[in-house]
Amino acid sequence: MYQNKDLILPPNHQQVGTVSWQAPSNIAIIKYWGKRPVQLPKNPSLSLSLTNAHTICSISYQPKQIPSPGISMSFSFEGQPNPQFAERLKKYLESLVDIFPFITRLHLDINSRNSFPHSSGIASSASAMCAIALCLCSMEHRFFDKLKDDKAFRRKASFVARLGSGSAARSVFSTAAIWGKTTAYPECDDRWAVGIEKLLHPSFANAKNRIMIVSEAQKAVSSSKGHALMEQNPFAPTRYSLAKSRLNPLLSALQSGDWKLFGSICEQEALDLHALMMSSTPSFILMLPNTLEIINRIRKFRKATKLHLYFTLDAGPNVHILYPNHQAEKVENFLDQYIVGLCERKQYIQDAVGSGPVQLQ
Ligand code: DP6
Repeated sequence: MYQNKDLILPPNHQQVGTVSWQAPSNIAIIKYWGKRPVQLPKNPSLSLSLTNAHTICSISYQPKQIPSPGISMSFSFEGQPNPQFAERLKKYLESLVDIFPFITRLHLDINSRNSFPHSSGIASSASAMCAIALCLCSMEHRFFDKLKDDKAFRRKASFVARLGSGSAARSVFSTAAIWGKTTAYPECDDRWAVGIEKLLHPSFANAKNRIMIVSEAQKAVSSSKGHALMEQNPFAPTRYSLAKSRLNPLLSALQSGDWKLFGSICEQEALDLHALMMSSTPSFILMLPNTLEIINRIRKFRKATKLHLYFTLDAGPNVHILYPNHQAEKVENFLDQYIVGLCERKQYIQDAVGSGPVQLQ
């Protein structure tokens, strides 16, 4: 798929230029947890794209001074060298040579920066890999006049982003996306995500999300390790069929504006994800005492006020709280008064469902 040996620049190609994209982070409501080669999901997942939590990536390219078969690149993160991510990126680009043969003719200077503090414990691989994939697709478009149609462009970008990090496949789209085959939405595929922005009820398309930073520390177990541990998890088959069965009701909640149904699936998925971590061998726990305290306070406040506010969790201790815009004032007053104090250095990121990636000049 997408391998094309014709897309190679002639050796004397003198192209010099820069491409830049801003790509959002996303928060999964139905989680991707468990994969098979090559980076294909064991179950379909559905996420909301965010606005304020994003990555900006620029790739400046020029012909290689001395022709060589491999990847020639430099990488900086927020203006500083980052050897760990540079190595991951190099391997990623090497894996893409069949799809973008032209990258072997160029030297690439890649710069990436996040809108959120890098110590915030917020997963950045989705937005980072998505922004890089969009830059590569834009380069292909520039050199070969390919991918003119927006749908084809996004599909390829999602395919390429997926190979960098599974959840990145979903960041290519505004508001909401599904990645993985499901009977609930026939267009869906394991190889790329599909945007479902047209389907969303307005109260979800402009929903708010506050990310409570319970801990800034880097997580002890990476997502990749967590996915791998699903291979031996005794609950894995049940997990995959549960996730599949939740797609239909979640889609109907998102379409009709049913926050109660949305919230029950959202919270169940978050807790199931962490239950899977606890039932892995070796087991691991990423929630912290304040994660549970926040969950309990949210549930208590919801019961007392009947307001719609629901939590979800990534693979970490930080809590995403989702609520409709029209209830923002009441919810945010509660969060300011009773939840912010449970966060490390009282930190949170105020975010909202967003309009997707943007190409920058
Ligand atoms: C819990 O996409 O980070 O956030 O494909 O190994 O890069 P890799 O994993 P990654 O896993 C995301 C896990 C999750 C759930 C989700 O976003 O669906």
